[in-house]
Amino acid sequence: MRTDWKEAARLFFSDRAEHVVEAPSLEDLCWIAGRDPRLWRDSSLFEEMIESILSQLEVSKAHRLLEVGCAGGFLARGLAPRCREYVGVDVAAPTLEVARRLGLPNATFLCEDATALRLSDASFDRVVSYDVFTNFADFAVAEAVVREIWRVLRPGGRAMVGSIPDVEKTQEAAARAAALGEELTKLYGPLPPARARIVRVPFWRRLGGRVSSRVEPQISCYAFSASQFEKLGAFLGAATRILPIHPRNPYFGCRFNVVYEKPS
Ligand SMILES: C[S@@+](CC[C@H](N)C(=O)[O-])C[C@H]1O[C@@H](n2cnc3c(N)ncnc32)[C@H](O)[C@@H]1O
Repeated sequence: MRTDWKEAARLFFSDRAEHVVEAPSLEDLCWIAGRDPRLWRDSSLFEEMIESILSQLEVSKAHRLLEVGCAGGFLARGLAPRCREYVGVDVAAPTLEVARRLGLPNATFLCEDATALRLSDASFDRVVSYDVFTNFADFAVAEAVVREIWRVLRPGGRAMVGSIPDVEKTQEAAARAAALGEELTKLYGPLPPARARIVRVPFWRRLGGRVSSRVEPQISCYAFSASQFEKLGAFLGAATRILPIHPRNPYFGCRFNVVYEKPS
């Protein structure tokens, strides 16, 4: 199993979060999560996404909910108020410091690698991992994460791994991304230089005048097929459904959600 993807993801998201030093703005949270703020600051779009996650997962106020790959808490703001207890985990520790500053009263944020969660078996009613599997370089990683999600899910519980790029639609998704970028620039101008993007060079990098500029960490977007998740679900003994992402998402039709239900 390749592991370079993990370090790349950790560095990419940590780097973004490290530059948010105060209470995070919505733009900061978008930036940390790798979301274009010109699109995702639209509260009706956010609400539609949250409602689609909550309804596909059938989340209630009685549930203990785990979010795997929570970043700075972009989704936590919508998910935590709708369940009894919310736990967000992420491999990039600085993102969690930002999430904690949101002050969500029923939320806990923990630094965890999703391939080896230090959480008890069967301890969650619901688990969601949204826009995270795009970071996984091969299906072996996706499988390891789904197995961990399955382990911490209680019998009768539901899990969703969501917004997974469909490998069959890679070209269409790239064309849409390009068109979306152009449209957003026409409507709102170029991507704003968010507060989070102001580079503060740490003192040790400035020592001896060695470093005056830096290279921004990069992240890739990986795609999978729905049948891979269906086969894995069958192996685990899950009732598996492949569902659409919410309709106003620009990648609607190019991405899918997987919902796994654990027998009681
Ligand atoms: C694109 S962000 C999505 C954040 C949030 N779920 C959302 O939809 O806005 C992906 C997050 O997954 C985290 N992540 C990637 N690999 C991980 C792993 N192995 N364990 C835990 N978190 C991981 C990254 O650090 C990053 O914060």
